[in-house]
Amino acid sequence: MTTVTSRVLDTREAIETRRSIRKFVQEPLNQDDLREILRLTSLAPSANNVQTWRFAVVQNKDLQEKLQEAAYNQGQVSNAPAVIVLYSDMEDVLSNVHDIFHPGMGEEQIKERAERFRASFEGQSVEERGAWANAQANIALGYLLIAARSLGYDTVPMLGFDPQKVRDLLGLPAHAHITAMVPVGKRAEEGFPHHRHGLDRLVRWY
Ligand SMILES: Cc1cc2nc3c(=O)[nH]c(=O)nc-3n(C[C@H](O)[C@H](O)[C@H](O)COP(=O)(O)O)c2cc1C
Repeated sequence: MTTVTSRVLDTREAIETRRSIRKFVQEPLNQDDLREILRLTSLAPSANNVQTWRFAVVQNKDLQEKLQEAAYNQGQVSNAPAVIVLYSDMEDVLSNVHDIFHPGMGEEQIKERAERFRASFEGQSVEERGAWANAQANIALGYLLIAARSLGYDTVPMLGFDPQKVRDLLGLPAHAHITAMVPVGKRAEEGFPHHRHGLDRLVRWY
């Protein structure tokens, strides 16, 4: 755990005060805070502990401007001090399956489980298992937004971009699914208050 530079918000406060922010204070991100946001995000759970999420962290205005073009010119991409492109890479997971199992299991069990895990995806196309992997990475997306807010930062999750252009700009493999582009920084606008369905619209109680 690293020392963070802002007051830490508790989970409830972070959720209540998170809102999409598209204009940021023009100052570089504290690099320890950024690493802590990524570390907290990486603690998200996933099926079989696959941890399909990967992060491309961009803090380079030239590259951000190119990413912005790929994002239909949405200004927050170059306005933010940093952009985290969260993507999933199932082929990397499958090439290194042993890494996902707890070392406490012992080598025999890890070997057996790794084989079973690999076999369970053999019948699927790269695209099918990539989509499954991306569903896991969406759990990390939720963590990322709340982790950032809890350390006093703001974000806007984005899916409005051309994924092939983003892959090309970042040199990501063709099979990588991009979960979201997430500009991060400190808010320089208020954003919109939550507008959400009430529980009566969302919940069936049994
Ligand atoms: C998966 C996803 C994709 C989104 N894509 C964009 C986007 O491309 N551009 C944008 O300005 N906002 C984008 N948003 C932000 C939503 O518009 C926003 O979360 C929603 O309106 C609720 O507002 P709030 O985040 O302030 O609570 C996206 C949000 C999510 C979760």
